[in-house]
Order: sequence, then structure tokens, then C-alpha cells
Amino acid sequence: MTERVLRLAAIGGDGIGPEVVAATLPVLAAAVEGGGGTLVVSDLDWGGERYLRTGEVAPADAPDIVRNFDAVLFGAVGRYDVPDDIPVWDLVIRLRQGLQLAVNVRPVHAFPGVPSPVRDVEGVDFVVVRENTEGEYAGIGGRAHGGTGAEIAVEVAVHSAAAIRRVAGYAFQEARRRSAPLVAVSKSNAMRHGYALWDQVVAEVAAGFPDVAWERVFVDAMAARMIERPRSLGVVLASNLFGDILSDLGAVLGGGLGMAPSANICADGSGVGLFEPVHGSAPDIAGSGAANPLGCVLSGAMLLDHTGFAAAAARVRDAVAVTVADLTARTPDIGGRATTAQVAARLLDAVTARRRPARSERDSVGRPGLTAREAGTRAGMTQTPDAEDQPDRATTVGETGGLPGRNAAPEASQLSEDEMADTVSGAGPAGGTAADEPESSTAGNG
Ligand code: NAI
Ligand code: MG
Repeated sequence: MTERVLRLAAIGGDGIGPEVVAATLPVLAAAVEGGGGTLVVSDLDWGGERYLRTGEVAPADAPDIVRNFDAVLFGAVGRYDVPDDIPVWDLVIRLRQGLQLAVNVRPVHAFPGVPSPVRDVEGVDFVVVRENTEGEYAGIGGRAHGGTGAEIAVEVAVHSAAAIRRVAGYAFQEARRRSAPLVAVSKSNAMRHGYALWDQVVAEVAAGFPDVAWERVFVDAMAARMIERPRSLGVVLASNLFGDILSDLGAVLGGGLGMAPSANICADGSGVGLFEPVHGSAPDIAGSGAANPLGCVLSGAMLLDHTGFAAAAARVRDAVAVTVADLTARTPDIGGRATTAQVAARLLDAVTARRRPARSERDSVGRPGLTAREAGTRAGMTQTPDAEDQPDRATTVGETGGLPGRNAAPEASQLSEDEMADTVSGAGPAGGTAADEPESSTAGNG
């Protein structure tokens, strides 16, 4: 069998982006190594700082560059001294459109005990599936009559049947996989061209999924429903603009923007995906150590699922469940006092603790000639992967929308008290990671 290597492009970006990515990479590395694989990270300096230095946020052929990797882990871009639209357009939207990442998957999951301004969120568990390439973010329009006092601006929303069909197809598949109902968000009462096309194409796609219960809800009513009856939701299918707004609202149910992950992927699961927390660069807290890394870490779990490392993804989600259950390992946004680095250390300990039994299990089954010590020495080098970590995009694609923490709480609770105690100490992972190194380094399990 061949060694499993996962080649990541890491784009920290601006503000808290590099902080949450630095916290995430060692956790992913440890989870991958736990299954006998290796994580190789190339750090890309794209973002606002590069723009100020060179005049460009990213190279013009950015999509082609990242096609050489298995996946992209992205923090966020945006800083006070660069106009907001420049990094978002020259990096985020350029990659989404250039790589044809037609689907943006944004799970909303309320971890037990994580505070939310919404009163009752226990059991909330749904996913926003957002069209990612057109709609109101197509970038078509212009301004005229500037400086005359009568300036006009035109922003054209573009909705194509092809794009609606591919994202709706993904969303209905996801609803079927989760045995959950689907809500198609619309606004065809007021916007009677673009959203009428949405209604029509969604109904056509729905006809192919007679087993999926679905309904159409207007976006304004949807905002209210997300607060009033969030447990009634399974899959929320939305256009680019509506999905953007509703997923920030959804994030609040899960404890806030710091907790919310996302995946930008091709509708058929092929190609290179871009995985990023829902939040932006949060310049108001950048450098203070207050950034919650869990949205980024959970995005990393989605990345692992998408690239065929399902067991590693489960390890990461388990670690997140253990970490949020520890009141001393919560950042201020979810009611704690821990720093980003402290949360990162707790996560890494939890992943490593989960890894130990997995390794001896694997050795006794698949690699009888290797002692645990040898396995430890060779961890991350050339080991046989877990059976469930075998590359099999066809079977893992459907799991892309898997929610963070799905099954995580029960598994986490299987940790003995000793193991829990064992995970409290340990080296901080946020420093000296692959993210600190300039080019193509192997993220160690420090
Ligand atoms: P934001 O998501 O960066 O911040 C909104 C609020 O949530 C702030 O109070 C922030 O402190 C808090 N917050 C966000 N993430 C957090 C975390 N991980 N832990 C704790 N608190 C967190 O949105 P905002 O303020 O509208 O935008 C800031 C910059 O980010 C802008 O330049 C914007 O254009 C950019 N942006 C970039 C995105 C991307 O790179 N994909 C997405 C959204 C915004
Ligand atoms: Mg947004």
C-alpha cells in the first residue's frame, strides 16, 4: 500500500486569519499522522500585506497555482488600510470562480453547552448550501455620473439555470444523505426574474428526489424561522447573497462566527476545494490572542473529509467536542478566557490522546511486524493508512457536508477521565508550526 500524503496550500491572509490557521495546522497534522498519513503544507503569503508590498493580493494565476494541491486551507482577508473589496475580489472570489467552486457548504451545529444569544439551541444541526459563483456577487455593473451629485451605481444579479441546477442537485443529495428536510430560500415575490428562475429550477431538481421533503420559504421569513424554529431545519438551499447572510445568522446559533466552518467545493466533489471559517479577518481583535480557532479547525475537518481522510476528520471533530466541553479552553467569544494558543494546545492534546488507541489497533490488525515504538518513530512518514482513510473520493464526496461534531460528543465522552486529565498538559502548538515556515514544509506533530 502507498503512503497517504495530503498536500495543503495554507493561506493565512490578514488579521486573525494567520492566527487561526496556525492553530489549525498542527491539529490536522496530528490527526492525519494518527492514521499513518503525512500532511505537507505550503504557506502562501496572499492577502492584504502582500498587496501593500507588491500591488497584488495574489498572483494572477492563483487558481492554477492552487490546482497543484489537494486542498486549500484559508483564514481570511481584509485589513483597515486596504479597501475591503480588493482582497475579497482578488483572492476569495477569484478562487471561488476560477476553481468553479460552485457550492459553499456551511454547517450550523450547536455544541452542547456553548453559549448562544439565542435561548434554546440544543440539538440545532443543519447546513446552509449556498450558490457560490454568481447571483448578486457576479461582479457585473458599474458607476456613472460620479462627482455630479447624481451618481448612479448598477449591480447586476446573474442567475443561470445551470448554476442553480448544480447547487440544488448538491443540496438535495445532501438532504437525502442526512434524511433531512430541505428549505429552498427565495424572494420571487419581489424579484420576479432571477428568483422565479430559482423557484422553477429547484422544483425541477426536486422532482428527481421524491424522497426528500422540501418547501420554499422567502428569505425574510427564513431569517425569523432560523431563530424561532432552528431545529426544523436540515438543509437550507440559498443563492450567493442570501446564503452569505443567513449563514452568519446561523453561526450565532452555534455560538458565533468563531465557531462556524465552511467548504467551497465543486458540485460533483472533484477538484481542489477551499476550506475557510465563515468569519472575516476580525481586525478588531487581531493580535490580541482572542480569536476563536474552532471555525477554522472545523473547516479543516471538512477538508479532511473531502480529501478522503474521514477517520482523521472524525479525530479532529472529537477533539473539538472535548475542547469546547472544557470551560478553561474557551475563547472570550464563547464565554471563556483562554487564548487562541491555549485552545490550540488543548485541541492538539485531545487529538493526540485520541490517536494512541487508534495506532495500536491499527498495528495489531494491519502491521503485525511493527512495534508501537517503531510506529511512533515512523509516525507521519511511511505508515499504512487506516482502512477508512483510503483514498476514495467517490465515497467521501457525499460526506463533504458532514456537520462538525456529528457523532463527536458521544465519542468524546468515551475518553476515560484519565485520558481527559492526560490531555490538559502539553506543548503549545501555535508556535513553530508549518505555517511559520516559508515554503513546502512538513507540518510536524510537535
Ligand atoms: P468579521 O467576521 O471579521 O468580524 C465580525 C465580528 O465577529 C467582529 O467583532 C469579530 O471580532 C468577531 N469575530 C469574527 N471571527 C471571530 C473569531 N474567530 N473569534 C472571535 N471573534 C470573532 O467580519 P467584519 O468585521 O465584517 O469584516 C472584517 C474584515 O474581514 C473586512 O475587511 C471584510 O471584508 C473581511 N471579510 C473577509 C472574509 C473572507 O476572507 N472570506 C469574509 C468576511 C469578511
Ligand atoms: Mg460572509
